[in-house]
Amino acid sequence: IKKAFIFDLDGVIVDTAKYHFLAWKKIANELDIDFTLEHNELLKGVSRVRSLDIILDIGKIEASQADKNKWLIQKNEDYLSYLVDMNQSEVLPGVMPILNYLKEQNQLIALGSASKNARPILEKTGTLSFFDAIVDGNDVTNAKPDPEVFLIAAQLLGAKPEDSIVFEDSVAGIQAANIGGMLSIGIGDKETLHEAQYIFNDFNEIDTIFIDELIRKK
Ligand code: G6P
Ligand code: MG
Repeated sequence: IKKAFIFDLDGVIVDTAKYHFLAWKKIANELDIDFTLEHNELLKGVSRVRSLDIILDIGKIEASQADKNKWLIQKNEDYLSYLVDMNQSEVLPGVMPILNYLKEQNQLIALGSASKNARPILEKTGTLSFFDAIVDGNDVTNAKPDPEVFLIAAQLLGAKPEDSIVFEDSVAGIQAANIGGMLSIGIGDKETLHEAQYIFNDFNEIDTIFIDELIRKK
């Protein structure tokens, strides 16, 4: 039996969520917006453009398109500066064993991320070769919670949504998986991700017995 295992990137495979936060926080500070970690949850899984709009909404700021473009470039340049020395040490706990196990079991693996920086991050962390399909922010028009990114990923793998399993750290991503008719697995806080069908703090809590059950699940 083959199932499609679809992984989000930021906050699931690799610990980049903290860098997104730092880069957005800098922009928010410049605009005198009090941007908290709680606000940051709203940005997870959400595109760069939409993230900026959410921050401006929080600060009740109306900005010109020219200013927005400037901040978007600034945010990404700052974000990329944190990734310069990135290597396999920034892959999140327990992820490598699970990727290895899925490969050993001949399962299908895809990336389903809103990020336009996904490929270089997979390369730097040595995880690129695990993926049979990659769908990222360059390939989709509708952002999570729209299921588009995961539906395309399943389609590229030749799998039906009901045979697909999504690992996500964001509320928007869990909703996208649920709306798409896929099994949703939250990685992170139980309360924040309560809409997920299963929730784990990290991949160290996921063992091969659980993976075997997912593979055999009807
Ligand atoms: C992921 C992250 C978001 C980020 C988005 C776009 O979904 O969770 O925080 O804003 O990707 O990433 P990018 O690298 O294209 O700015
Ligand atoms: Mg994420």
